[in-house]
Amino acid sequence: MSSSLDGAAFDRVAADYDEVAQSRLGVLLRGRVHKVLEPLISSGSRVLDVGCGTGIDSAWMASRGAIVTGIDVSPRMIDIAKKRVGPPALFVVRDLNQSSWAAELGQFEAAISNFGAVSCVDDLADFGEQLAQSVEVGGVAVLVPMGHVVPWEQMAGLIRGDLSRVRRRFAKEPTIEHGYPGVSVRYMSARQLSRRLGARWRLRHASALGWALPTYAQRRAVEMAPRIGAALASVDAVGARLAGRLAMGDHQIAVLERV
Ligand SMILES: C[S@@+](CC[C@H](N)C(=O)[O-])C[C@H]1O[C@@H](n2cnc3c(N)ncnc32)[C@H](O)[C@@H]1O
Repeated sequence: MSSSLDGAAFDRVAADYDEVAQSRLGVLLRGRVHKVLEPLISSGSRVLDVGCGTGIDSAWMASRGAIVTGIDVSPRMIDIAKKRVGPPALFVVRDLNQSSWAAELGQFEAAISNFGAVSCVDDLADFGEQLAQSVEVGGVAVLVPMGHVVPWEQMAGLIRGDLSRVRRRFAKEPTIEHGYPGVSVRYMSARQLSRRLGARWRLRHASALGWALPTYAQRRAVEMAPRIGAALASVDAVGARLAGRLAMGDHQIAVLERV
C-alpha cells in the first residue's frame, strides 16, 4: 500500500467518517477505550494522537485538559480535526509508513492510536522505534489494532457461504478493508502487536473490543435494537480480558509501557 494511496483513500471517507464513528455502536465502543485512557491522562498531559482521524479522541482528551498533537496521513481528516479542536491542540499531516514521521513532534507522556490506524502500518518494528522516540520512558501508549476473531462477521460469512469473509482476518498478507477501498490492513492481537513493536515497549494490559457486538458494517443491528445493543455492550465489557486472550474482537486494546 503506497502512502499517497493511504491519504487519498482516507480523504475519500473523511466527510462521512463521523456518521459511522458517532453511531450508537461507535459511541459504545469508543467509550470503552476512553475508560482505559481516563486514568492515564490528566490536565496538562502531553498526548500524541496517532492516526487521529477527525479528532474525536483528541477533542475528548483536550476537554480533560490534555495538550494534544494529532497526526494523520489524510489532509481532509486533519482539516476536520483542526476545526473540531482548537489551539493549543496541534494537527499535522504525517505518514506512519515514512520512517521520519516522529521527527520534530516533541516528547509526550502518552500516545493513543485508536480504531485501526496501527493496522495500516507496514513496518511495526520501525513504528515501535519511532513511537519510542516520541513517548518518554515510563509513559504509555494505548493502541487499538484490528483483531482476528469476530463472531458476528464470521458467522455472517458462514451463513452467506462467503468463506473469504470468514478467513480474511487470519490472512498472513495485508487484506483490503471493507468500507475503505484501497486500504490494506493487518489484523493482530494485542500480544502480537506488542511483540512486533520491539523491546522498548512492554504490554501492560490486553483486552478485546467488539467481540460480542456487531462490526461497524453491521451497526444497523444496534441502531434497530438499542437495548439489545446495550446488553451486548455489557457482555463485551465483562468478557473483554478473556476474549482478549483468545485474540477476539473487531479491535483489541493494548496498553503498552515505554521501557
Ligand atoms: C479508522 S480511522 C481511525 C481514526 C481515529 N483514530 C478514530 O478513532 O476515529 C484510521 C485512521 O488512520 C489513518 N491512517 C491510515 N494509514 C495511515 C498512515 N500510514 N499514516 C498516518 N495515518 C494513517 C487514516 O487516515 C484514518 O484517519
